[in-house]
Amino acid sequence: MRPEFSLFPEQASTIASKVDALYFFALGISAFFSLLIALVIFAFFIKFRRRRAGEVGAKTHESMALEIVWSVIPLIICMVLFVWGAIVFIDMRTMPDDATEYYATAKQWMWKFQHPEGQREINSLHIPVGEPIMLTMTSEDVIHSFFVPAFRVKQDVVPGRYTTVWFEADKVGTYHLFCTEYCGSHHAQMRGSVTVMEPDDYQAWLAGGGPVAAPQELGEALFTQHICNTCHFEDGTGRGPSLVGIFGSEVRGTDGSVRVVDDNYLRESILRPSAHVNEGYSQIMPTYQGQLSEVSLLQLIAYIKSISDSPSEESPAPAAVAANGE
Ligand code: CUA
Repeated sequence: MRPEFSLFPEQASTIASKVDALYFFALGISAFFSLLIALVIFAFFIKFRRRRAGEVGAKTHESMALEIVWSVIPLIICMVLFVWGAIVFIDMRTMPDDATEYYATAKQWMWKFQHPEGQREINSLHIPVGEPIMLTMTSEDVIHSFFVPAFRVKQDVVPGRYTTVWFEADKVGTYHLFCTEYCGSHHAQMRGSVTVMEPDDYQAWLAGGGPVAAPQELGEALFTQHICNTCHFEDGTGRGPSLVGIFGSEVRGTDGSVRVVDDNYLRESILRPSAHVNEGYSQIMPTYQGQLSEVSLLQLIAYIKSISDSPSEESPAPAAVAANGE
């Protein structure tokens, strides 16, 4: 996007300067010791060169003090790098509670995004500046990887499960998006852009595409279309458990194991219902493997989440109110 050459990508997210500080520290340490070792080697070449034929080097003995020094100093440097790195990593991996959830589906060779308000985009993603954004991602075919250098985030996108990444852009602009996992002959062309906008501009952009249905509204329609509602009654009297409030809760299976209901759990329950049957119910649910696209699956899960929003948890989307009927 920028014509002029720059050695490093610009910093456009809250995490970028933290990643860079660590990177430059590691680079500085490496450069310092590389230079030091090279200089010492060179100095020793000269100092200890053979001055006449038959010259034999003096006998030397080990020095305990020296051994301790060159063991302890590297240990301290490694521990600083480790602790610092762990702090930055935990920062990057801890999802803020108020993050807005967007969906990404990768396939050979494109990126498909869906906004919480329902807008869809291909190979481009528009987001507001100064708001934490969470991406729930999956792939329709092979492993891809989501990489926005300006945000300093990179996360594999894996078929058959959901992975997440979060970032908060702090600078308006358009930034490169790359696939950074070799995924076939057009891997290099699997790129796009992330456009960071002022909140007002973002709202105007959202409104510009005309009215659209939010993912959870589309999911509610799918719920009826695939007659999920004929077993999963809201009051729990159906042949399947009620799904109201199920997201984020713990469920006990017929085998006694307890699992937390998250995106990956719901995905498995829809595609392989026999994997974890809830206690008190029998395995009568058919598999939906092959009947639902990745996009539909995400919409169904968005719907199940929307009927699970507890008051303590902030609703991720302003349009989380389910639409009436189908
Ligand atoms: Cu997708 Cu490389």
